[in-house]
Amino acid sequence: MGMWYQLHTLFYFCWMPVYVYIISAIVIIIGAILYERKKTKPLYPLLPKHLNFGKRQITLLRTLELLNERKAKILLETGIARKGILQTRADGASTIVFGTWAKKNNAHLYSVDIDPVATQMAGEAIAHLGLNKYVTPVTSDSVSYLKGFDQKVDFLYLDSYDFPKGDTDGQRKSQEHHLKEFRAIENQLHDRSIVLIDDCRLPNGGKGKLVMDYLLANGWKIELKKYQNLLVKA
Ligand SMILES: C[S@@+](CC[C@H](N)C(=O)[O-])C[C@H]1O[C@@H](n2cnc3c(N)ncnc32)[C@H](O)[C@@H]1O
Repeated sequence: MGMWYQLHTLFYFCWMPVYVYIISAIVIIIGAILYERKKTKPLYPLLPKHLNFGKRQITLLRTLELLNERKAKILLETGIARKGILQTRADGASTIVFGTWAKKNNAHLYSVDIDPVATQMAGEAIAHLGLNKYVTPVTSDSVSYLKGFDQKVDFLYLDSYDFPKGDTDGQRKSQEHHLKEFRAIENQLHDRSIVLIDDCRLPNGGKGKLVMDYLLANGWKIELKKYQNLLVKA
């Protein structure tokens, strides 16, 4: 019975009329397109639909909503997007995301990075996208730059010192650095400031471990906790 059934199935598929193959191909193509659409997580309409922000999409979308609602003007990030818009999924392309938002809302993004090659490469992408007037790339250690930053900050994004896989000493240093960044700029934040921290859903608490502990003990609350953590004043 089993063998007869298999032979029958094989015969049936070999002799299917041409239109069955065509319909099957169309169904497969439509399925692949729908799957691709489902997979792509854009920040549309701020940026084109084909750009995929993957695991960061949900927090970036909520951040953009908050920036709109609170009419943010001064945005500050640590860790520049050296690849411009090219690595939306892997790194987040933060400078282009927030820089584009700044352009549309007459705001300004300051982006600090210790690596001059990174700021130079990002600078080229910023110029290419016509964001010069709205984004200032700065080459400096983030902590010393933030200590001297003299404007009130409406939005702070922390994404500098890399969090190394499997290196607990390096991970601790990354966590300490992000805490130092926050402490350095804390006095320039206000009741309606928004804070976003990258790479939090990683082993040992990711980049945000220590800064999250500090924020939660100092009057901040979690707005959204995903791969990135988004916080506002409680
Ligand atoms: C993960 S990347 C930033 C990614 C970027 N936010 C994006 O969305 O593409 C981290 C950056 O932090 C920078 N960095 C590391 N240590 C730093 C420090 N002490 N001060 C400022 N930037 C630092 C590195 O040079 C690197 O470019």
